[in-house]
Amino acid sequence: MAKTGPSYTCSECGAVHKKWTGRCDSCGSWNSIVEEAPLSAGPAAKTLGAAKGRQIELTTLATTEVPPPRAASGMGELDRVLGGGLVPASAILVGGDPGIGKSTLLLQAAASFARTGLSCLYLSGEEASAQVRMRAQRLGLADAPVRLGAETNLRDILTTLDGARPDLVIIDSIQTMWADHVEAAPGSVSQVRAAAHELVSFAKKRGTSVILVGHVTKEGQIAGPRVVEHMVDTVLYFEGERGHQFRILRAVKNRFGPADEIGVFEMTGAGLAEVANPSALFLSERGQAHPGSAVFAGIEGTRPVLTEIQALVAPSPLGTPRRTVVGLDSGRLSTILAVLESRCGIPFAGLDVFLNVAGGMRVAEPAADLAVAAALLSAREDVALPPDMVIFGEISLSGALRPVGQTENRLKEARKLGFSQAVAPERSKTEGEDGIRVRKMPDLTTFVGEMFAA
Ligand code: TYD
Ligand code: MG
Repeated sequence: MAKTGPSYTCSECGAVHKKWTGRCDSCGSWNSIVEEAPLSAGPAAKTLGAAKGRQIELTTLATTEVPPPRAASGMGELDRVLGGGLVPASAILVGGDPGIGKSTLLLQAAASFARTGLSCLYLSGEEASAQVRMRAQRLGLADAPVRLGAETNLRDILTTLDGARPDLVIIDSIQTMWADHVEAAPGSVSQVRAAAHELVSFAKKRGTSVILVGHVTKEGQIAGPRVVEHMVDTVLYFEGERGHQFRILRAVKNRFGPADEIGVFEMTGAGLAEVANPSALFLSERGQAHPGSAVFAGIEGTRPVLTEIQALVAPSPLGTPRRTVVGLDSGRLSTILAVLESRCGIPFAGLDVFLNVAGGMRVAEPAADLAVAAALLSAREDVALPPDMVIFGEISLSGALRPVGQTENRLKEARKLGFSQAVAPERSKTEGEDGIRVRKMPDLTTFVGEMFAA
């Protein structure tokens, strides 16, 4: 076997490099490459002639082994993101910034699952059991039948799990777990990978569901949750802006349900509260109509969510004007500004542009283009849009408006929240919705003419 030297692994994305570099070519993060000891081959590995694996006919599987039902926790927002509930023997990763509320969320989830009759084990590598209990007391969950443990040695954990066979085990966090057969510090890429691999294999073999908590890290020495994303069935990220109490649980990968689904929570003094109607919440900060504000009728996963897009445009003292974006893709903003300039003749040169999605929400849908353009134009012209109007549509580079999916759902949600007019691309598939006037427009120039002429 060829001799292997040390390898250099990115702790952000797990990419392996031949030599150390300051920036990872694969994910672009700086200072994230760490040196790892070479993996040993293990005692005389035998490839052929080892014990046989078991094969099952696909057709027999369908009739005899009916998949067990999903377990709903009763926390509606969590169940929605999981695709309807917890699938037995599944592995789930919950990533998020430190302090965002992952431990709080999962302790609440463990309590909810336990109250439905699942046996749940919450293993903390960061807090002592007494501390977890104190938190549970504060959350009003002290009476939930959840078992707690404070353990970081993987061997001990697997032995315990093999004896206890819980339905669900929560590992908080994967970066604190430590496998004694891997020669690396806890939190390093090889430790995190080895621990995740063992726990996921255990889940699949023994039918226990595993939830792994992963901190999103900023420094290179600790491996981030992306390193284990490919090993698990479901990847959820818990996100939110500091200073906002809203938290969004977003599915970015889900083998058992739709990806892009979101669950909305609010951090209160007594833990996370579910927000069943996010549109009402994201629009609650909206006062009177003012220039620079547009309401976007979006779709997050399977449900419509209305958000307010805010823009501010001001003369710039700088040679290169500022483009500051929160909650939207900055590349998208550049494209929209370029289309406004070249196709509609409205320049933004010499102007600082600030763009923001209210409430700490993040919008990734191209359908938000027209609402972004509307907010920018409204700010630039200092003209408020009608306060009862929602906007959606994708802008193509030619300036034409492209229809987007689920028009009916967007309109229904808008009507439910009291909006009475909508601007949509011309070819949108809708018969119109009772109580809401749909103004269909072919391109951005028409939109500018109708909304801002005078
Ligand atoms: P935590 O769940 O410990 O975060 P993580 O596990 O992601 O690191 O949450 C920590 C933050 O949540 C902390 O800043 C305090 C806040 N918090 C509340 O506001 N209310 C609560 O009831 C709890 C338990 C935490
Ligand atoms: Mg925590």
